[in-house]
Amino acid sequence: MNFNEKLNNKIEMVNKALKEYLAPRYPERLYEAMGYSVFAGGKRLRPVLMLSACEAVGGKEEDALPFACAMEMIHTYSLIHDDLPAMDNDDFRRGKPTCHKAFDEALAILAGDGLLTYAFEIMLNTICDRKDMNYAKAARYIAENSGTCGMLVGQVVDVESEGVSIDDKTLMYIHDNKTGGLIKASLVAGAIIGGATEDEIRDFEKIGYNIGIAFQIKDDILDVTSTSEILGKPVFSDEKNNKSTYVTLHGLENAQEDFKTLSEGAVRMIENFGKNGEFLRSYADTLINRIN
Ligand code: IPE
Ligand code: IPE
Ligand code: MG
Ligand code: MG
Ligand code: MG
Repeated sequence: MNFNEKLNNKIEMVNKALKEYLAPRYPERLYEAMGYSVFAGGKRLRPVLMLSACEAVGGKEEDALPFACAMEMIHTYSLIHDDLPAMDNDDFRRGKPTCHKAFDEALAILAGDGLLTYAFEIMLNTICDRKDMNYAKAARYIAENSGTCGMLVGQVVDVESEGVSIDDKTLMYIHDNKTGGLIKASLVAGAIIGGATEDEIRDFEKIGYNIGIAFQIKDDILDVTSTSEILGKPVFSDEKNNKSTYVTLHGLENAQEDFKTLSEGAVRMIENFGKNGEFLRSYADTLINRIN
């Protein structure tokens, strides 16, 4: 199998499992809204990172599948809430009207809450069924990095920083947490489930830091250089909200350079995982050239 076939297999596997988790049931509108946002599109970056980190340490990707789906649910919840009028107030996401536009604000808030809670239900079910402390450790890491030590607090400082000038330290805090949080969680949780050693877990935290910051730098770049057709979400959203971004703080050229340095650093660290890490290395390579 070549790289693209392997990538499509992983995405298919995740989509199939997500379809089963999100099969319609009462109250139908809730499941419709959750499914609408999850299946609107999306690169499935975080599940793919989780499955391939699990493989990189010698684990079986199937073992990380429930957690990979949980991670995509947490990510989708973060997007639904990020787009709300009280936050970035954006009308398009994944090429379709945002959840609050397609449904209404109350249901968008509840669909986000639903996805977050369901993610933890899925992870706790896995822990109880398999009675394996590695799953509990992975869930703890995901909780920390989605909430009080990650995405949530990054989003808080991001929103509080609108319209004010911030220094580089604050910007790095925002990027490392709001975006790095879920990316680190995906890699580290995948590695823990795959039976990683303490050293390997530390390596994945470093790789996650690099990929997380690089991913958000690229997102800031694309916000001013791409089109809404290609991105599936509005461009110039940051300017509209008076956000400080990597581009406004450092300029486009430095942003591009730092993006490259951080991404290449991640690829080099992944190389230490040898043959088992080959897919993850190639995947990290594709992120360097991503256009959406
Ligand atoms: C968007 O994430 C939010 C950021 C952290 C920049 P993605 O670019 O991974 O969005 P999808 O999942 O492909 O829609
Ligand atoms: C959001 O950053 C990161 C999240 C936690 C959702 P952005 O607000 O820049 O993400 P986009 O550009 O709307 O996808
Ligand atoms: Mg935002
Ligand atoms: Mg946004
Ligand atoms: Mg953005």
